[in-house]
Amino acid sequence: MEMQNFDRWAKVYDLIYGTYDKDIDFYRKEARKSKGKVLEIACGTGRIYLELVKDGVDAYGIDISNKMLEILKKKAKELGLKPKVKKADMKSFSFNIKFSLIIIPFRSFLHNLTIEDQLKTLMNVRKHLKPKGKLILNFFYPNPEVFVKDMNKEIKEKIRVKDREYIKITKTSFADEVNQLLLVESKLKIKDKTYWRNKFKISFVYKREFELLLRLAGFKKWKVYGGFDYKSYKQEMVWIVER
Ligand SMILES: C[S@@+](CC[C@H](N)C(=O)[O-])C[C@H]1O[C@@H](n2cnc3c(N)ncnc32)[C@H](O)[C@@H]1O
Repeated sequence: MEMQNFDRWAKVYDLIYGTYDKDIDFYRKEARKSKGKVLEIACGTGRIYLELVKDGVDAYGIDISNKMLEILKKKAKELGLKPKVKKADMKSFSFNIKFSLIIIPFRSFLHNLTIEDQLKTLMNVRKHLKPKGKLILNFFYPNPEVFVKDMNKEIKEKIRVKDREYIKITKTSFADEVNQLLLVESKLKIKDKTYWRNKFKISFVYKREFELLLRLAGFKKWKVYGGFDYKSYKQEMVWIVER
C-alpha cells in the first residue's frame, strides 16, 4: 500500500472527524480578530475552513489532496459558499497576496517528516505573512505516558454515525522514538466488514524543538498554550506566533 495517500483518506475523513469541533471556536475567534485575509494550510474537507467562510472571514485554503478539496467544494456548494482553495503543498505554496493570519490546525504540521520539510514550511509561511501577521497552529504534546500506554498495540474505537449505526476503527501506532516518527495504521469496519484501511507516517515535535525551528525560520516572538482555552498543558500545544 502506498504510503501517505491523502486522497485515500478523503473517502472516510468526514465519517471519522466530521463532527469533531473542539478547536472550531478558537480558530473562528482568532480569524475574526485578525481582521484580514486568512489562509488555512491543509484545509482538508473544510471542517474548519467552511466555518470561517460562513462567518464572513476572507479565507483561503490549500491542501495537498485533490480528493479532500473536491469534498470541500461540494459541501461549499450545498451551503451556497464560494471557497478559495487550491491544491498545493505547505512547503512550496505560493500566493501573490500576504495574509494577516495563517493557521495549521488539527496537527497537520506533523505531516512534515524531516527538519528540512519543517523549515521549508515555516519559512514559506513567514514569507506569506504581513509584517504584523500571525501563525497559529496546534499539535499534540508527546506525552511519555501515552507512548507507554497506547503505542504498538491496537486501539479500538467505536464511532456513532447515525442513531443506531456505528463504525469501528482500529488504530495501531508504531513509535520510532529516536527519530520522532509514528507509523499509524488504521482500519475501518462497517458491520464487521473491513471497509477501508490506510497507513501514514507523522512526526512528533517537542516544545523546545519547535522553538528552535521557529527561530531558525526567522520568527522571534510566540506564546504556547496547553489547549484551546489559552490555559494549562493537557494534551495539546497551541502556538500563537508573531511574524
Ligand atoms: C488531519 S487533516 C486536517 C484537515 C483539516 N484542517 C481539519 O482540521 O479537519 C490533514 C490534512 O493535511 C493534508 N496534507 C498532508 N500533507 C500536506 C502537505 N504537505 N501540504 C498540504 N496539505 C497536506 C492532508 O491532505 C489532509 O487533508
